[in-house]
Amino acid sequence: MSKTATLEIDGKKYDFPLITGTENEVAIDISNLRAATEGVITLDSGFKNTGSCESAITFLDGEKGILRYRGYAIEELAQKVDFLEVAYLLIFGELPTKEQNDKFHDDIRAQSVVDEDVKKILEAFPKTAHPMGIISSLTSALTAFNPSVVNVESDVDMYNSVVKILGKMPVLVAWTMRKKQGLPLDYGDDSIGYVENILKMMFKKPNAEYKQNQIFIDALDKLLILHADHEQNCSTSTVRIVGSAHAGLFASISAGISALWGPLHGGANQAVLEMLQAIEADGGDTKKYMAKAKDKNDPFRLMGFGHRVYKNFDPRAKIIKQAADQVLNDLGIEDPILDIAKSLEKEALEDPYFVERKLYPNVDFYSGIIYRAMGIPTEMFTVMFAIGRLPGWIAQYREMRLRKEPIGRPRQLYTGATLRPFVEVDKR
Ligand code: ACO
Repeated sequence: MSKTATLEIDGKKYDFPLITGTENEVAIDISNLRAATEGVITLDSGFKNTGSCESAITFLDGEKGILRYRGYAIEELAQKVDFLEVAYLLIFGELPTKEQNDKFHDDIRAQSVVDEDVKKILEAFPKTAHPMGIISSLTSALTAFNPSVVNVESDVDMYNSVVKILGKMPVLVAWTMRKKQGLPLDYGDDSIGYVENILKMMFKKPNAEYKQNQIFIDALDKLLILHADHEQNCSTSTVRIVGSAHAGLFASISAGISALWGPLHGGANQAVLEMLQAIEADGGDTKKYMAKAKDKNDPFRLMGFGHRVYKNFDPRAKIIKQAADQVLNDLGIEDPILDIAKSLEKEALEDPYFVERKLYPNVDFYSGIIYRAMGIPTEMFTVMFAIGRLPGWIAQYREMRLRKEPIGRPRQLYTGATLRPFVEVDKR
């Protein structure tokens, strides 16, 4: 392939370099476009064709259904390592040695307390507040309790921030859920694993011992791994763009949490469950909802179907579908919601509308089913996703800062009014 792409505007030709990634993806480097053409820009709403950065963290091929973290296949990672090993891999680039892994766990445990004053902030939220709004605010508040500026070029500084946020986030999550349920806010147990601790902090009753369930531990560990990074998605791009203004790590992650909240992104797992419940309440007629999803005059979309980059089965959905089946079988759960999910999945995979548009079930179609089986309230689903995505956000923030990327500041094509005379108030 030639090493340049040529653009012709009004008979004048401009050459732009082609850059090839390690997986042979090709990009046209247009960083010089505006200067060379005296003002021409590209327009790409939703960034469907625009690479915002070079990144060495996650590779995904949406056509082939491939997802790899730092070169390792997601299928293998989901089977062979735990969530914190994946977090270490994503953030620092390599799988940890046994010593590094033990130290990482210990350092995270040491940081898994938060300032008692955080409880006062939490107290101020109304019971009706959505957990994602609370978590985004509390994550931002962590900056106030940890005001020192992180020097991203210092490995020690960065490492300390990483273990801080990985340690504190589960406490914030558990407190948010417990506050909504009127349960006392407690700290975790630093003698157990990260995922076990999350479950214990969330579910321990004040008057009973908490019994761990290995099925839940394994399922949650897998879910967190599968959500850990997904290259330049909406929330990650948010973290990178906020961080590109040199905002702090916690503040940037807080912004990412807000982006994740949206129902077209991480909020889809809550939306899926609510959709399944609504279909059940309406008599369980999946065909009616399939028809609604295809009707262009109806705003209804089949939540949990389709993906911006996967035009093939989402590889995470394959793993999670198996995990969901396993959890429900092992627990002997018969759930009408699941039957509706299975019908929708079958009908959509056979329906020309979905087949032609390559709309497959995505990861969120199944994650909600597992969370529901675990007893996690629907409103908390996206929060669980946020715990999983945390390592990805941190890794991407760190990479962006270490690469000294410039502040993110897109251009626009102005389509508003041209200069017009000012009209005095009595003449408007
Ligand atoms: N139900 C019905 N039709 C759909 C759906 C759906 N879930 N998703 C896409 N389509 C249709 C669109 O109407 C469009 O049809 P058209 O070509 O006739 O106009 C076509 O498929 C392409 O859809 P776009 O919206 O252009 O695709 P895009 O890449 O912009 O959107 C998105 C991807 C937002 C995920 C979309 O598929 C969607 O809204 N899905 C439901 C929400 C969801 O599950 N989100 C979770 C994504 S995974 C995650 O964030 C972890």
